[in-house]
Amino acid sequence: MARITASVYTSHVPAIGAALDLGKSAEPYWQPVFQGYEPSQQWLREHRPDVVFLVYNDHATAFSLELIPTFAIGCAAEFQPADEGWGPRPVPTVMGHPELAAHIAQSVIQEDFDLTIANRMDVDHGLTVPLSLMCGKQDPVQGAWPFRVIPFAVNVVQYPVPSGRRCFQLGQALRRAVESFDEDLNVQVWGTGGMSHQLQGPRAGLINRAWDNAFLDRLIADPAGLAQVPHLDYVREAGSEGIELVMWLIARGAMADVAGAGPAPTVARRFYHVPASNTAVGHLILEDHAG
Ligand code: DHB
Ligand code: FE
Repeated sequence: MARITASVYTSHVPAIGAALDLGKSAEPYWQPVFQGYEPSQQWLREHRPDVVFLVYNDHATAFSLELIPTFAIGCAAEFQPADEGWGPRPVPTVMGHPELAAHIAQSVIQEDFDLTIANRMDVDHGLTVPLSLMCGKQDPVQGAWPFRVIPFAVNVVQYPVPSGRRCFQLGQALRRAVESFDEDLNVQVWGTGGMSHQLQGPRAGLINRAWDNAFLDRLIADPAGLAQVPHLDYVREAGSEGIELVMWLIARGAMADVAGAGPAPTVARRFYHVPASNTAVGHLILEDHAG
């Protein structure tokens, strides 16, 4: 059977991708950010998954404002890095897992979550920057990402966006789906986006260290309580783009303790750095312990 072994959480700032692609990762501004992910890259080499179910948000790249799915699952065999206005990032094509993705769609839709099936979907910085942070720089032609990826796009750009509670429940359904897939696969679930940031309006540049760190504490120790936090709290406390953090609750909802199937996960890595571009970078790795 397939099993979920860990969840990973990380911000996705586009300027981080640009810094890596343009060879600026050793510059004083960026060095502490990339250094913070070095132990995580080592952890990933030691805990290499077969498949990552990567929860992220599209930034009006694959989906324009003409069509906005709340939840879209990437069922294609491969996904191209999107052109976000400066050309596609020079990173390898993202290889999917159509069989597992189709199984998850079947299982989760039958549990009454209305997923959109995406058989073609370009992936923007929301997905490729977390991959770069966790895997390091990869040659776009000779290189390859070290595992398959099922992209799972969540609308956190255009209101109404799904609640944290809904995302948390979806993570629980995701665990049941993965565990009913009849092939031995090591699966990680990644929740991305956040932490506090606001890109527009009078509060542009807002960052809230205390709120972010309380969010990390609660994500680890009180995820069910955290899932009850309403949207307004995210927007007020973490800025208009801080709402991206609801996506982390999908990954946390997929852990064994939430299903009553094991003890709380172990914190393998915790990192916080302010700022990167306009964003507070937060990062966690939680190792799952199914009983
Ligand atoms: C920034 C952060 C984001 O999440 C994003 O999608 C675009 C820009 C930033 O901090 O610059
Ligand atoms: Fe974003």
